Amino acid sequence: MILQPRLLVFFTLMLMVLRLSAAPSVAPTPLPALIYGSAWYPEQWPEAEWDADLERMQAAGMNMVRIGEFAWSTIEPAEGRYELDWMERAVAAAAKRGMVTIIGTPTDTPPAWMTTKYPEILRVDETGVRLQHGSRRHFSIGSEKYRELCRAVVEKLADRFGKNPHVVAWQIGNELTEDSFDPESRGRFHRWLEKRYGTLDALNQQWMTAYWSQTYTEWSQVPMTTGRANPGLLLDHKRFVTDTWLDFQRNQIDVLRARVDPRQVITTNLGGLGWANKFNRQQISADYDVISWDEYLGSGWFDKTKNGTGHLDPLRSGATHDLVRGWKQKNFWVMEMPPGFVDWGSVSNSLDRGETRAMAWHAVGHGADCIAFWQWRSALNGQEQYHGSLVGPDGEPVPVYAEAAQTGRDFAKAAPVLAGTEPRSDVAVIHDYDSRWAIEFNPFSNRYDQMQILIDYYRALREPTQAVDIVTPAMDLSRYKLVVAPSLNVVSPRLAARLGDYVRAGGHLVLGPRTGMKTESNALSRERQPGALLENVGARVEQFYALLEAVPVAGAWGEGKATVWAEPLGRLAPDVEVTLRYGAGNDWLTGEPAAVRRQLGKGTITYLGAVLDSTFMDQVALGWLKDAGIATNAKISAPDGVKISRRVGANREVFVITNFSKGAQEIVLPGAMTDVLAGGEVTVAKLPRYGVAVLTRPLT
Ligand code: GAL
Repeated sequence: MILQPRLLVFFTLMLMVLRLSAAPSVAPTPLPALIYGSAWYPEQWPEAEWDADLERMQAAGMNMVRIGEFAWSTIEPAEGRYELDWMERAVAAAAKRGMVTIIGTPTDTPPAWMTTKYPEILRVDETGVRLQHGSRRHFSIGSEKYRELCRAVVEKLADRFGKNPHVVAWQIGNELTEDSFDPESRGRFHRWLEKRYGTLDALNQQWMTAYWSQTYTEWSQVPMTTGRANPGLLLDHKRFVTDTWLDFQRNQIDVLRARVDPRQVITTNLGGLGWANKFNRQQISADYDVISWDEYLGSGWFDKTKNGTGHLDPLRSGATHDLVRGWKQKNFWVMEMPPGFVDWGSVSNSLDRGETRAMAWHAVGHGADCIAFWQWRSALNGQEQYHGSLVGPDGEPVPVYAEAAQTGRDFAKAAPVLAGTEPRSDVAVIHDYDSRWAIEFNPFSNRYDQMQILIDYYRALREPTQAVDIVTPAMDLSRYKLVVAPSLNVVSPRLAARLGDYVRAGGHLVLGPRTGMKTESNALSRERQPGALLENVGARVEQFYALLEAVPVAGAWGEGKATVWAEPLGRLAPDVEVTLRYGAGNDWLTGEPAAVRRQLGKGTITYLGAVLDSTFMDQVALGWLKDAGIATNAKISAPDGVKISRRVGANREVFVITNFSKGAQEIVLPGAMTDVLAGGEVTVAKLPRYGVAVLTRPLT
C-alpha cells in the first residue's frame, strides 16, 4: 500500500509525538541535604570557559551554583526581548557536572535602557537626590512601574525554569537593602498611615502632635524622614518600609508560586550582617520557604566596629546565625560567605589559612543547611574586582580553593549524618525590632549599645547550654523553658498578655532594663515602666538613670556592678521578692531594688533594671538557668575560643566543634563518639587551630 504524502506526514508526526511522550522525563534533582556552592556569573565569561569553571567546582565538592541575580541586562537586553537560552545552557552545563541551580531574580539591577526610559523607577535618597545609573540597588521599592517590569521578567524566568528539574530554588532580588523617598513612595506612606489610623485625629493623638505644632490637617503634610522627628512617626516609617518590602517581594513571589513546581524553594538572601534593621526581617521571612543570609563577619571588620579584629568573631557570628534561624524557627541557608576576604573593608585583610573552613562549619553547627561563597571567579572589571574568589581571573584556583575543596570533602562525608538534624534549645533571647528602633531613635546614653547588651545575655546563656535561640516576640515561645528579653522597650497590651500567658503556663521570663516604657505608637506609657507588663511584674520602675560610673549590686545571685543603665524598682505586690539591690553609688539608687522576681501561675517573671558587668552577668544567668530547670553542665566542656554546637535528629545527636582559639586543643568527650570526618571512634577530639571535628552518637 502506498501512503498518500499527507497521510505519511500525519503518521510521522504521530510517531514523533508518541516517542516524545514515551521518553522518560528527567526526574527533578532533589535538594542536597547539605547544599554547597558559589555565586557564578556565566554572563560575564565566554561560554567556552563555562565547563572549566564547573569542572573545578565539581572537583571542590560543590553541588550548587547560584546564578542570575544581577543579569537583567543579559536576560532582557531590550524592552520585552528576553534571552534565556544562555541561562538554560548554563543550568544544563551545571547539571552535567552534578550541580543544581538556584536562580536569583535580577531585580536588584534594572538595566540602563529601563532607567533611561522610566526614570521614575530610580530611587530617591533621603536628601531628595535621584540616583543615577551605574551601580546597583538604584530602584525605588515603591514604584508601581518597577514592580510591573519585575513581574514581567520573573514571569519569563518562571515559565522557562519553573519545571526545570535542575533548578531547586529561587532567590528574590539580592539583599533587599535600600528604601526610597521619591514622591510615589511618599504617597504610599500617606496611604499607609491613613489605613493604619483611619483619621488624622487618631494619628495626631497617637503621635501627640500638639508638641512643637506638628498637628497635621492633610495626610500629605506628614513628612517622611529618618532624622530626629516625632518618635511615633519614626517607628511607623520603619513599619511602612517593612510593609513596602513585603509587597515588593510578594509581587515576585506570587508570580513564582503560581508558575513553578512547589518543590522549588523560594528564599531571599538577607545582607547587612544579619543584624541590620532597616526593616523587620522576621516579618518578611514569613513569606519564604527558607531564609538565607550573607555572612560577612570577619575579613574587613578591622576597625569598623570596636570588636572588629579582621577575623571571625565566633560569638557574634554564632549569635547572628541564631538570630536568622529564629526568624522561621528552623534551619537556614548561608547564601554568601567570603572565600578569605572582601574588598570593601578599610583593610580587606584575609582570614587565616583554615579560618574560612572553620567559619563554614561554625555556620553548619548553628543550623545552616547551605553554604555558598561569593564569588567563584574574580570579575575582570566591575566594582568588586578585588573581592575574594576561589579561582582567579584566569579561571585557575587561588590558594583558598584547596580549603574550599577540603570543606567540600567534609560536607560529602557529613551530609548523611546531618540530614534531618537541627539545633534545639530550651532558652530564647528576644530581639524585637520595634523596641530596637525605639531605643535607637534616642538611645539616651551612647553607652547603651543594645546589640552588645543582647550579646552579653546570649553569651552568658549559651556558654553553659551550647544552644540558644534568638527570636522575636511574635514567634512561638511555648517551646522554651526560659525566655529573656534584654531591652523590650515597646510593649503592647497584646504582647503583655502573650508574655503573661507564657509565664502562667510554666515559662520563666526575664525582662531587662528599658522594658515596657513605650506603647505601640512609641509614646511613653501612661503607666510607669514596665507599662502594659506592670501588673504581671508587680513592681514598677521609679526612674531611669544613664550611668557614668558603675554602681555595685548584690543579692541572691551574688554581687557585681551595674553599668551603663540603672533603674530602681518599687514593689507594688506583696509576693514580689527582691533579688538584687544597688549599693552605694548614685544616691538615687543606694539601697533600692535592682531586680525583682515573682511567681506567676506555674512560672516566674523577673525584672532586672540594670545592665550588669559581663562577669556578673555570667553568674546571674546561671541562676536563671537553674531556676528554669535547665541543665547547665554543658554536654562537652570546651576551653575558651572553642565553639561547640549540637544538632539533634530523630535518633542521633551531632556535635560540631570549631577551634577559634590561638592554639591546638584537646577536648575530652563524655563518652565514645563517631568521628564523622576522620572516621573511627574517639573519646578525645584533637583540634589544631581552626580545626573542625564533627562527632555523632545515638540519642539516648
Ligand atoms: C554582598 C552582595 C554580593 C557582593 C558581596 C561582596 O553583600 O550580596 O553581591 O557584593 O556583598 O562582599
